[in-house]
Amino acid sequence: MKILGIVGSMRKEGRTAQLVEAVLAGAKEEDSSLKVEALHLADLEVGPCTACYDVCAKEPYKCVVKDDFQKIIRKMDDADGLVIGSPLYFTVPARLTALCERLACLAHFHDVRKHKGPHLLEDKPCGLVVATGGSDPTLVFLYLHRFALSLRLSPIYLKHYPYYGVAGKGDLQEDPDRPLHQAAALGERLAEAVKQ
Ligand SMILES: Cc1cc2nc3c(=O)[nH]c(=O)nc-3n(C[C@H](O)[C@H](O)[C@H](O)COP(=O)(O)O)c2cc1C
Repeated sequence: MKILGIVGSMRKEGRTAQLVEAVLAGAKEEDSSLKVEALHLADLEVGPCTACYDVCAKEPYKCVVKDDFQKIIRKMDDADGLVIGSPLYFTVPARLTALCERLACLAHFHDVRKHKGPHLLEDKPCGLVVATGGSDPTLVFLYLHRFALSLRLSPIYLKHYPYYGVAGKGDLQEDPDRPLHQAAALGERLAEAVKQ
């Protein structure tokens, strides 16, 4: 079984990556047989949906835009659980927004065209993490959560603020909310959900 972390930051060694890695390490702690991998959008080209209303509408999981999207979706399909990490870049980073846009279209047309069975990513457990310079992370969580629900993923919630997932505000080591510790705990719960 495998958990894939998607790092939506343009910095491969930033706080978003650290939070995603902490979730993956927590999952591994829970079950050492799990395979984990972090995918950095900083390394990949993902352009916006061009609203062709054609290719993915006819053939689910095909897209007219030729970039790294197919590679990402294959890895997401191959994974049993997902972690999606985003920084706050005023709103959500452009490349991650483009990925969400493209994925949401696939699920939408799967439903509209009444393609049979669950779609490729349906019901996959999913943990969310957000890094900010100090601002409140809710805006980004609301976006990611809505995206996860629109894709019919199964988000893992926290029992305390910010509820949607783990937030790191500023220096992760200095933050009294101990986001790296919380991220590891989220990873353990994600591993449990994946095994069920
Ligand atoms: C374009 C851009 C916009 C940002 N906007 C905000 C913001 O509105 N509030 C905030 O607290 N931090 C903001 N930041 C800071 C990042 O959220 C913060 O540095 C975060 O750690 C970045 O994630 P990373 O460490 O994974 O790169 C912004 C950063 C960038 C590059």
